[in-house]
Amino acid sequence: MTNKPIYVTQPQLPKLEELIPYLENIWESKILTNNGPYHQQLEQALCEYLGVKHIALFTNGTVALVTALQTLRITGEVITTPYSFVATSHSLLWNAIKPGFVDIDPITLNLDPDKIEAAITPQTTAIMPVHCYGHPCDVDRIQKIADNYGLKVIYDAAHAFGVQCHSGSVLNHGDLSVLSFHATKVFNTFEGGAIVCPDTKTKQRVDHLKNFGFVDETIVVAPGINGKMSEFNAALGLLQLKGIDEALQKRKAIDAQYREGLAGVKGIHCLSDAGEKVANYAHFPILVRPEYPLNREALYQKLRDNGIYARRYFYPLISDFPMYRGLASAAQSNLPVASKAASEVICLPIYPALSSEQVDSVIELLVS
Ligand SMILES: Cc1ncc(COP(=O)(O)O)c(C=O)c1O
Repeated sequence: MTNKPIYVTQPQLPKLEELIPYLENIWESKILTNNGPYHQQLEQALCEYLGVKHIALFTNGTVALVTALQTLRITGEVITTPYSFVATSHSLLWNAIKPGFVDIDPITLNLDPDKIEAAITPQTTAIMPVHCYGHPCDVDRIQKIADNYGLKVIYDAAHAFGVQCHSGSVLNHGDLSVLSFHATKVFNTFEGGAIVCPDTKTKQRVDHLKNFGFVDETIVVAPGINGKMSEFNAALGLLQLKGIDEALQKRKAIDAQYREGLAGVKGIHCLSDAGEKVANYAHFPILVRPEYPLNREALYQKLRDNGIYARRYFYPLISDFPMYRGLASAAQSNLPVASKAASEVICLPIYPALSSEQVDSVIELLVS
């Protein structure tokens, strides 16, 4: 039994005293929100760090997803994955769009490009894939399908902060990419999110939409929402960015320690990366296979009994929740790979402050 509970994640925070000067500036200026100086600085800093052209900051990732769909005027049906956090599909329902669930690839657990075409209907207008666990989707094949059928692609990149694929930042793929800066994420602003936009015109539309549709004092061009990030969150983001490389290095070391420690354990499959050039080690998912002496539920409970609060991301599948399960595409027979993964997965604790001894204690429980 470990002394202190170990949770699946623990947010990275800067030193409190480092935040004070930023707060003093905010108190002095009285600029609390609405595209203030820290907001502008963070947008600029994130563009440089992530290697993207334009970023629009948001109050959280979910409002950013809802707004991304509004930005491109997506309607009808959107193809998406059932193997994700509910916000992915919820953003479709908030836009009165019907999700079309498509099964996932057994290796990456991302949307399976081989199965997308068969799910396209005359009502389909877009694809919303997820870079699950920060592992890039097959962006080239997805783009090719989208181009052939005249569909838009909006990536839910909530897990993919800092990830680079063969062509640089994975966030440059698709028409828009949406990030989350929630407390559980690799980079957090307590709550927060962003839309990565390819050009100034799109960024401008997003900026209007996240500010009630206001263009100026008297002109409103769309039924926009309030999705603005506050100066407090933006200031925190600027500080968090200073510690991000060190945090990613620590995550990388934990990932390596798990892989080494679990390499010979029969029935425990560590999900491999998806060939990314730069990974972010956002999660450490394992699949508990029949050769393991315990089933997934028993192992999950054993970990809890020993103070290790791992999580079953992503179980249940989104398609099994009441607001989705009536859809034809939600049938288990349509989603065999996702259903199997959801029944086998456990995400082990991974976060920068997790010590090597703590990782060993988790490994020990899995091995014994
Ligand atoms: C895949 C995915 N999409 C969307 C979200 C929603 O982001 P937020 O919590 O910032 O609204 C999350 C996480 O919270 C997520 O994991």
